[in-house]
Amino acid sequence: MRKKTVAANWKMNMGVKSAQSLLRELIPLVKDSFVEIIICAPYLTIPTVVELTKGTGIKTGAENMYFHDKGAYTGEISPGMLKEAGVSHVILGHSERRKYFDETNEIINKKILKALEYDLVPMACCGESLEIRGDGLAKQYIHRQVMEMLQGVPKEDVEKCIFSYEPIWAIGTGIGATKEQAEEGCMEIRRCIAGMYGDETADNCTILYGGSVNPSNADSIFAIKAIDGGLLGTASLSLDFATVVKKREQIG
Ligand code: 13P
Repeated sequence: MRKKTVAANWKMNMGVKSAQSLLRELIPLVKDSFVEIIICAPYLTIPTVVELTKGTGIKTGAENMYFHDKGAYTGEISPGMLKEAGVSHVILGHSERRKYFDETNEIINKKILKALEYDLVPMACCGESLEIRGDGLAKQYIHRQVMEMLQGVPKEDVEKCIFSYEPIWAIGTGIGATKEQAEEGCMEIRRCIAGMYGDETADNCTILYGGSVNPSNADSIFAIKAIDGGLLGTASLSLDFATVVKKREQIG
C-alpha cells in the first residue's frame, strides 16, 4: 500500500551504544507521526532497535539478507532469523551491495522472492551511475533493474514492496539529485511496474528517493507527487532524521 515513508539506512554505522543514544533522543520526536518510519540497522544492532521502538509504530529493517532458508552459508543471515528478531523490512539491492559484493539483479530477485515468502517487506533499490546517466541511458537502466528484480513476483505481492530510486552519484555526496532527476527516476520505476502489472498496482506502490536527502532539500523532494518519501543514509545518523520526518508530515 502506498504510504508516506521516511526510512533510515544506517549502513555500517551505529553499534549498540550509539544506536541507544540516538534512539533515546529520536524516538520521542517522531513516535506519534503518521509517517511510516523504518530504521534499517546492522544485524547486531537490530535487537536494540526492536526493543527501543516497541510500542511506537516505528518499524525495524535489516540492510540485507540471504536468499536461502538456512544451511551452510557462513556469515549470512536468513529471512527466518530476521523475522524471529522482530524485523519487518529489508533493504535489498542497495548500490553498495551491488558494487562491493557483486550483487546482480538476479540475486536481488531471489532475495525479494524469499523475503516475500517470509512476509518481510522488501525495500528494493535501483539507480544508475554517473557514466550511465552521462550516456543518456538512466531511464532504460532503471527500467531494466526493476524488471529483472521483479521477475516471478506475483501481482498481489508487488504492492507490498517498497522501491527506492537511489542514483549512485547522489549517495553520500551531499549533492542530491535535482527535483526533476529524482522525479524522473521515481516515475520510471512506476512506469516499469505499470507495464508489468498495470496502472492500479503501480499507483499503489510506495516509491522513495534516496541520495543526500537532508533537512535542507527534503521539502522540495517531498513536494513531488511521484515521490512518497525518502531513504536516508548520512542524515539518518543524527537528529536530522527527525527533521526530515517532520518535513514529510508537513507536506502531507
Ligand atoms: P546518503 O543519504 O548518505 O546519500 O545515503 C543514501 C542511501 O544510500 C540510502 O540508502
